[in-house]
Amino acid sequence: MRTSIQTPPTAIALAVDLLAGGNLVAFPTETVYGLGADARQPAAIELVYRVKGRPANNPLIVHVADTQTARQCAGEFPPTAEILAAAFWPGPLTMVLPRGPTICPAACAGLNTMAIRVPNHPIALEILARFGHPVCAPSANLSGHTSPTAAGHVLTELDGLIPLIVDGGSCTVGLESTVVDLTGPLPVVLRPGAITAEMIQRQLLNAGLNSRVLLEAPINPADPGEAMASPGLLARHYAPRTPAFRFTRTQADQVAQWLQRQPGQSRIVLLTFPDGPSFEKISQHLILPAGGAACAQQLYAMLRKADEGHFDTILLEMPELQTGVWAAIVDRMTRATQELA
Ligand code: TXA
Ligand code: MG
Repeated sequence: MRTSIQTPPTAIALAVDLLAGGNLVAFPTETVYGLGADARQPAAIELVYRVKGRPANNPLIVHVADTQTARQCAGEFPPTAEILAAAFWPGPLTMVLPRGPTICPAACAGLNTMAIRVPNHPIALEILARFGHPVCAPSANLSGHTSPTAAGHVLTELDGLIPLIVDGGSCTVGLESTVVDLTGPLPVVLRPGAITAEMIQRQLLNAGLNSRVLLEAPINPADPGEAMASPGLLARHYAPRTPAFRFTRTQADQVAQWLQRQPGQSRIVLLTFPDGPSFEKISQHLILPAGGAACAQQLYAMLRKADEGHFDTILLEMPELQTGVWAAIVDRMTRATQELA
């Protein structure tokens, strides 16, 4: 199959036709590029899992053009969903709600809940509005790898596997949406993102709901075959192919000692923040942006650059801050790397 990269306006009509025909289309959102399929067509959903190599027990996110459509797709749209939709949609917040009858069970990995969001990207919104039906869209990468934040990244992963990539330039947020589960007694953040638990809590409080928002601790299921609360929370995910290790600034001496033990011909790429440490034996030193929003936006592109440079090892400095968007950055960096041994 030939994969073509196209820009609007021609790309929009083409995308809508392909989706209607049960084909897959990669398109930009504000977070990362999504791999879209008609959420009502089981064969299209099956294709998503096959192309990505995604485990069948990892449910997809349904994308819709507006809150009204979301109300129709969900089995139930509780007051908390109304408050959060009014505050954050269109935007990088995914809500887990009871599944409605139009969404095919395979899209939700057989669960009776579904994940849904309205993305904040003009191209995504136009495709969704013109298509007029819910579209499942996991990140447009092979399962487990770094999510794509530019059309070129999608091509690297899926060339020859899908007919169309709609090019909308670089994603502005750069990390996947926050996933909040609204099906239990208290809202639970299953995946941190640009919209933080504090921001969600503040909106609920402002609306008079005295509801605490829980943050689910990362899980590492002993049995990967078992149904998981949110399988995107697998410990190893978003990962480059090159062995990648993380370190904190206080571990700089340990990194220097680790480097001493590496063979002389090793090629190592170092990613640090602007005032981070440098070491001998480093082949390339890339500097991550100091600001949270900029770091989130560029993190995956920089990990890809490090991955594509044919290095033996990637060394990644962890941020010192853990609050706000840094929580999501720390989460993705941790899943992309191993602890320095
Ligand atoms: O920003 C995003 O959310 C991007 C763009 C394309 O919208 N999409 C994305 O999709 O990141 P994906 O498939 O890579 O991640 C879906 C996440 C996974 O962590 C999955 O476990 C969780 O959503 N999820 C989906 N349905 C769920 C459900 N019913 N219950 C709990 N978690 C669910
Ligand atoms: Mg993904």
